[in-house]
Amino acid sequence: MAVPSAETGALSAGDAGVRSAAWHLIPLLAHGYIVGYIDRSNIGFAALTMSRELGLSATVAVLRVGRDTPHFQRRVWECTLPMRTVSVTSCAAGAVRRESRLRAVVGCMRSTSMKKRIRMTLGVCVGLAAALLTFIPGGRVVAGDGTGDDEQTLAELGLAIAPVPLTYSAKDKDLVGLGSYLVNAAGDCNGCHTGGGPPNFNYAQGFNPYFGQPEKVDPSVYLSGGQDFGQVAIDANFNPIGPHIIARNLTPNKTGRAEGGNTFDQFRQILRHGTDLDHLHPPCATAPSNPNCLFALPVINPVDGNLLQVMPWPTFSHMTDHDLLAIYKYLSAIPCIEGPATPADLPPTSQYAFTALHNDCH
Ligand code: HEC
Repeated sequence: MAVPSAETGALSAGDAGVRSAAWHLIPLLAHGYIVGYIDRSNIGFAALTMSRELGLSATVAVLRVGRDTPHFQRRVWECTLPMRTVSVTSCAAGAVRRESRLRAVVGCMRSTSMKKRIRMTLGVCVGLAAALLTFIPGGRVVAGDGTGDDEQTLAELGLAIAPVPLTYSAKDKDLVGLGSYLVNAAGDCNGCHTGGGPPNFNYAQGFNPYFGQPEKVDPSVYLSGGQDFGQVAIDANFNPIGPHIIARNLTPNKTGRAEGGNTFDQFRQILRHGTDLDHLHPPCATAPSNPNCLFALPVINPVDGNLLQVMPWPTFSHMTDHDLLAIYKYLSAIPCIEGPATPADLPPTSQYAFTALHNDCH
């Protein structure tokens, strides 16, 4: 009769031990999570190197505690080593021989001196983790192995596919590369902003992929603007009315700034909100006496002449500031194209847009 009750008592004491151990494990798990996070962020290597330089060896802990010890526990021991390597590992090793591995760890942790050490160690580890995280630039992982879509890869690809010679400072290289990727591989800006006409439009003679030929963009009309997208407003009889929408010259002018000399703030305003800073086709509420105003009619044609039409700014507005800056830097690096010398060089429907198509390169 006494044996079962003794067993019951022993079991409940064991349960209490496990419960209390579970509580003690929480801070360690949190620590394990942080270390795991650092690992995912590619700087786990840095932590390992630091441990090695400090003369610590994760292997010692692994061998003593057991090869099949879960990953986080290994890291816990590794981090605990700086406090008292010998006592921690030998305590664990001794216990491992007698008890199950979990109990060994719990036993070590429950001793008062060990609790203090663990608390101190946790403090050191959390501080170390915080310090390391601070050094990850912008919270991003910038290094890459060249196989994924990391920024370095996109930048290199962007520089390789740029169809025109680029001028930029060394510090802007990666931004310009990313910008080229966004303009030439994603945004298709030159598909609309080319100055070329039929039959090849943005492609060089003999290099039009739509004719089954190898692809080469025509650099002489690259992003110089002038495509006519027709009328976007209608009158009360549903007839098209108002100015034709003309894609504009995006090349830099003599200031070297993108898109005819705009600042980055102006450029961002345009791409985020579609603001027409040139006011080429201002809105008008009555039937247009000015042929260049965009006539708005409630319900059937509420077009807003203050906004760029056709231009996919609602899509581009979702880009990050970083991406927009990259595009801006790229558009500052491409060659200036002067465009038409006088309005008379343009078809009648495009002449009103002359100021947005002509660029002073010198
Ligand atoms: C679907 C055709 C199309 C595409 C693609 C396109 N644009 Fe445009 N964009 C236009 C048109 C058309 C205008 C002029 C709209 C107007 O006059 O209302 C314009 C205007 C602009 C303007 C305003 C220029 C100024 O002088 O204020 C900027 C800047 C611009 N586009 C940048 C870009 C960039 C950068 C890309 C690629 C990421 C791009 N566009 C892709 C059609 C396009």
